[in-house]
Amino acid sequence: MGMPCGPWRGVIEAYRSLLPVTNRTPVVTLLEGNTPLLEAPALSRTLTGGRVRLLLKHEGLNPTGSFKDRGMTVAISRALEAGVRAVICASTGNTAASAAAYAARAGLLCVVVLPHGMIALGKLGQALIHGARVVPIQGNFDAALRLVREVVADRPVALVNSINPARIEGQKTAAFEICDALGDAPHYHAIPVGNAGNITAYWRGYRTYHAEGCTTRCPRMLGFQAAGAAPIVEGHVVPAPETVATAIRIGNPASWQGAVAARDESGGRIEKVTDEEILVAYRLLAEREGVFCEPASAASVAGVAQLARAGYFDTAPPEATVVCTLTGHGLKDPQTAVAALEPPAPVPAELDAVLVAIGF
Ligand code: F0G
Repeated sequence: MGMPCGPWRGVIEAYRSLLPVTNRTPVVTLLEGNTPLLEAPALSRTLTGGRVRLLLKHEGLNPTGSFKDRGMTVAISRALEAGVRAVICASTGNTAASAAAYAARAGLLCVVVLPHGMIALGKLGQALIHGARVVPIQGNFDAALRLVREVVADRPVALVNSINPARIEGQKTAAFEICDALGDAPHYHAIPVGNAGNITAYWRGYRTYHAEGCTTRCPRMLGFQAAGAAPIVEGHVVPAPETVATAIRIGNPASWQGAVAARDESGGRIEKVTDEEILVAYRLLAEREGVFCEPASAASVAGVAQLARAGYFDTAPPEATVVCTLTGHGLKDPQTAVAALEPPAPVPAELDAVLVAIGF
């Protein structure tokens, strides 16, 4: 379709005709979207021997630092139009941060139900500072989602998890932007999978753009779960999911069927990556490409590395493009960065000591 001219006005104005809004919908936006699609030449060489062209869709550069803002602008705008006074979500952190920010802008009360002790520090800080009512539970994300579904069943509160169709609709705009930037769809699209809303959204976006005649193909969708939280790969619910990537610490994804459809209809794969593989990719992105994402985001790159090692891209077309979505910013979770590297001990404030510490 091509990007509109003039200043960027957010994903609703950019792709209005393909989104569930009318001219009566009050648009609540923080100018989300229009995120960079970065070449990753060092990773392409290191991980695939230059076999494919690797690109990073840096969703951490959205207003609240994650891809959730694309869906939240649509969900909160629709909630405001519907006349509710409050919104609620379960979250591993990013949905909560985004809902809290957009609700604040819309003048709505926001309630977030979170697994206690399992939310990265930055995300918790965001939910609190935007004025959300934060309810930590002694249970995991899956329990939180069950509870919020019960809360909204007979109350005038809008649910803004990705089971709200407006969320998926908004998130599909990332696929549109990638096609607009490349002039066609990529050959492969790699993405972390938690509650499975985003892989569902991207697949819908790619199919829509193809149906509209904007692209000549759809990519193979490559989804990656954390090994300790890989229900779709294992084929059963995981009752006690565990991973360093707390954003995707989910054992019973709401959009399970959407993820399976994306995989099967696109001829793609859904695989699992270990925490160790995730942390290697996390550091590689930061050290070799200058891109700081949160651990869950690195699952997409870890997955591409794993598939490349197994020879998966050997049959890729020449010049094949692989886009990895980096779903959230590294600053969300500074504790994992510091833990991965151990900050050095302090030295005396003297030149000699500093030179020794530098290694000069
Ligand atoms: N990456 C990050 C950084 C996330 O926050 C999430 C999901 C995912 C990947 C997975 O996306 O759920 O659409 O498959 N975070 C949700 C939350 C669950 O509550 O913030 P998904």
